[in-house]
Amino acid sequence: MGKFKIAVLPGDGIGPEITEQALKVLKAVGSKFGHEFKFTEGLVGGAAYDAAGHPLPRETLDLCHQSDAILLGAVGGPKWDDLPVHLRPEAGALLPLRKALGLYANLRPARVFPALVNASTLKPEVVSGLDVLVVRELTGGLYFGQKRREPLPEGGIKVIDTLEYTTPEIERIVRLAFQMARKRRGKLTSVDKANVLESSRHWREVVSGLAAEYPDVELDHMYVDNCAMQLVKNPRQFDVIVTENMFGDILSDQASMLSGSLGMLASASIGGKIGLYEPSHGSAPKYAGLKRANPIATVLSGAMLLKFSLSLDRESEAVEQAVTRVLDLGYRTADLMEEGMKLVNTDEMGDLIAQEVGNG
Ligand code: IPM
Ligand code: MG
Repeated sequence: MGKFKIAVLPGDGIGPEITEQALKVLKAVGSKFGHEFKFTEGLVGGAAYDAAGHPLPRETLDLCHQSDAILLGAVGGPKWDDLPVHLRPEAGALLPLRKALGLYANLRPARVFPALVNASTLKPEVVSGLDVLVVRELTGGLYFGQKRREPLPEGGIKVIDTLEYTTPEIERIVRLAFQMARKRRGKLTSVDKANVLESSRHWREVVSGLAAEYPDVELDHMYVDNCAMQLVKNPRQFDVIVTENMFGDILSDQASMLSGSLGMLASASIGGKIGLYEPSHGSAPKYAGLKRANPIATVLSGAMLLKFSLSLDRESEAVEQAVTRVLDLGYRTADLMEEGMKLVNTDEMGDLIAQEVGNG
């Protein structure tokens, strides 16, 4: 029995409605397993900019620091797209939050639930049984390197983004990925562009250097372009993929679609004292308030929160099983809808999963 403080940052667009469903499910976990969760809401993203003039207000950061874990919905929307970059929800809130909390590891598991094998745009025989974990470095690389614009004498400008990594930054994410692989099927694919980039060449040196410490993990190196191709050709060859920030951003979206919908992909950002959990998808402004969004990615992010931040493995498992059962029973949100299935809205999907946690 435990007492836990969770910061809840619903954000923008569909953020509030999907977050609400994850809270229902966590509350169901609380009653079933006898834990006490104290949820405290904070402002983030465009909602925070509107209310407090900044996408990541001081109070929100303080709330995060005082919590055991953070559950985030999504941020951003056309309303805030023209703000200066440091005030935009994505660059002004998400990136500083990752940096401030030291969340250098982003875990994005892409799984194909048996009931959804036909929902993928790829053939069922290609994706059936798929279970890939993308481990993305989250606080380095192009995202955080120096950026500049310089005027050119002849007119126009020169733009510069810098891709920097240090040995320790690479080592810590790669170690984490080796450890994840060890707990799964024992296979690690390190993805880089070592045929072109100096940062990738060092990435590869570091990975190869650490391999001796994990003799039980089968390691291979793959160029990022090849990996993009292999992910659609034969995605089941992968167990754990580890890669730098930008490559991971792209490959994790790609991997998520294998599972049928971006609405299924959870994520955990860890590495610091406090973990942050959010769906991998965005705020889908055009669906905001319509109760059409799929809350499962957020619910499964809640499951990751239970496991990685609160060490409640059994409870985490119970949430995943509840999702599986609800899908097996034929309930689908609009993004997953197929003939013969039962269409439900965001709230109903949340209720069904919460109820199944209780039944489980
Ligand atoms: C993600 C998103 C963010 C990223 C954006 C919104 C800054 O795409 O979490 O993958 O690129 O990291
Ligand atoms: Mg992304």
